Amino acid sequence: MNANKILVVGAGLMGRGIVHAFAVRGHPVTLFDVSREAIDATLADIRTVTGEAVKIGKLTEEAAARTLDLITPGTDLVESARGADLVVETASERLSVKIDIIQAIDPVLAGDAIITTNTSALSITEIAAASANPARVAGMHFFNPVHKMKLVEIVRGIATADSVVERLKAWSDAIGKTSIVVNEAPGFTTSRMSAMLGNEAMHMLESGVATAEDIDTALRLGLGHPMGPLELGDMTGWDTRLAVLQYLHQSLGEKFRPCPLITKMVKSGRTGRKVGHGVYRYENGVKIPGSGLRSA
Ligand SMILES: NC(=O)c1ccc[n+]([C@@H]2O[C@H](COP(=O)([O-])OP(=O)(O)OC[C@H]3O[C@@H](n4cnc5c(N)ncnc54)[C@H](O)[C@@H]3O)[C@@H](O)[C@H]2O)c1
Repeated sequence: MNANKILVVGAGLMGRGIVHAFAVRGHPVTLFDVSREAIDATLADIRTVTGEAVKIGKLTEEAAARTLDLITPGTDLVESARGADLVVETASERLSVKIDIIQAIDPVLAGDAIITTNTSALSITEIAAASANPARVAGMHFFNPVHKMKLVEIVRGIATADSVVERLKAWSDAIGKTSIVVNEAPGFTTSRMSAMLGNEAMHMLESGVATAEDIDTALRLGLGHPMGPLELGDMTGWDTRLAVLQYLHQSLGEKFRPCPLITKMVKSGRTGRKVGHGVYRYENGVKIPGSGLRSA
């Protein structure tokens, strides 16, 4: 695959991993976010990650320097979109945000450019309707942390062209990911399962069935999950998790009603590891033992 130009919109938790995934494989990436601080934090994070990769011999100094050189911070969304072959929208999980972004960039993109969204659950068909050419829009759902998680879910909206799906499979291969193709359904295959599990774990914590630590240990050691559902919610961000649950509740019904404890945590700003405080507390990104939230 040629070194085509990528535009990543959204420099949050996911944006930084996605930018790194493309740049480290030699693709020029422009990164745009409404927050300049978020862009700077992402660039600093990628500098740290590539520096560490050099230290442990996973990347040469030249490859690390090249990766950083390939990333351009964008100052204007529309200007950043000019000449992009592939757009990955990974801004906050709100339909209106995603629609506004696509409406802004769609007119300046080349006819064969692809627009993808990293939404965790929202309707690709609805998001695609913001483009004058919905056939070029699909879901490209990455997982956190992007550098470790091999999967990309390619999600077809009602109008997504077969050729777009095929090109996204090739893009996924090109950055070392394994892709699956999913027909649009709320939460696709992964977020639907993960949201249900995380919600149930929060209900158990809220009603005092077990401590946070014990619920997570149960799923890790008893059911073989690589991490517990509360640890995973902290890593995902409870604000994102709540937005997904609200959407699933609205589209799939009562079984996805968000646990009130999640709403309380988001209202109090305990959104997870990214702010140092979720179900657990974190110091320099590392979980503090015994810090799990006690049931009220
Ligand atoms: N967190 C996860 O584990 C995870 C996993 C897969 C997919 N996702 C999805 O990825 C997307 C981003 O999630 P995140 O966890 O990175 O969120 P985040 O809150 O860490 O980052 C969102 C970023 O979007 C930016 N933003 C908001 N409005 C914008 C706009 N109009 N234009 C440009 N940037 C804008 C914010 O400034 C912020 O930096 C969401 O759709 C989410 O559902 C998240």
